[in-house]
Amino acid sequence: GVSPVKSEEKFAPSNIALCKYWGKRDKLLNLPINPSLSVSLAHLGTHTCLTPIDHDEDEVWLNGLCLSEDSAFSKRVSLFLDLFRQSKPTHFKVETRNSIPTAAGLASSASGFAALALAVNDSFQLHLDAQQLSVLARLGSGSACRSLFDGFVEWQMGERADGLDSYATPLSETWSGLCIGLVKVDAREKATDSRSGMQRTLETAHLYQSWPIQAAMDIQAIKDAISAHDFEGLGAKAEHNAMSMHATMMASWPPLVYWQPESLMAMQTVWKLRAQGLPVYFTMDAGPNLKLLFERASADDVLAHFPDIEVIHPFGLI
Ligand code: PMV
Repeated sequence: GVSPVKSEEKFAPSNIALCKYWGKRDKLLNLPINPSLSVSLAHLGTHTCLTPIDHDEDEVWLNGLCLSEDSAFSKRVSLFLDLFRQSKPTHFKVETRNSIPTAAGLASSASGFAALALAVNDSFQLHLDAQQLSVLARLGSGSACRSLFDGFVEWQMGERADGLDSYATPLSETWSGLCIGLVKVDAREKATDSRSGMQRTLETAHLYQSWPIQAAMDIQAIKDAISAHDFEGLGAKAEHNAMSMHATMMASWPPLVYWQPESLMAMQTVWKLRAQGLPVYFTMDAGPNLKLLFERASADDVLAHFPDIEVIHPFGLI
């Protein structure tokens, strides 16, 4: 193989799932039990650069700070780089910078491993195509396979045991005027990461049995709503999907509840606004923060009730 060289700085966007990935059929390869669909967050994501260094350990820098070798993130980065190290192992300085406002409470592992896959491809001159890069990013973090693309992205679960058919592809549809509002309830690192949360759900929640059926229906309905530009259909299916995922978490033992009182308060505000006729919906991942979904035409009304949200326009503005 080619010895690695310093990579260019590579960027990958963060993404938010409208139909969630929850549950692995293969823990090592991050192969999912259900297909998922996300929207990428344009310029919000991770920039990463790799430089080979003459050390016997990797050096992982996050937003200008050198992480300790036993931090969870630097361990995961080193394990990912181990996949490429050859007989004469090379170590790297990994410089990674999130353009996601650090206080926004958005997970950065998806954009982080997608940017790392792009940087590895450059450093080792692998010349991988987008599909192969998506497979590679998936090995770092499942949802990272969706962060190789902009816009709406579908992760097909695949059926092979080696995972080579489990990758993401972008949808051709765009939706200018689509807004995502980040409601920051708590930006601290969550107590149970998605890896162990999924495992606990699979092992203990009987309710999980129904999840793959729900996800299969939701992903089709969400794709139909995207094609038809049916915002209320999109929002309703995304919110229902997120609530169903959280129901499987809560049905685990010990119970897995990512919500905080402020999360429920924000949900109740959304439901009240909808009852008043405002088309606003939410989705939530393995954490307490809500992501509001609304259209440009509703932005002023949404901001009147959620003045502190950060608004993202995945497809720009009309
Ligand atoms: O990629 P992971 O292992 O961090 O899992 C992501 C899980 C969710 O964010 C809850 C859902 C999703 O599809 O992004």
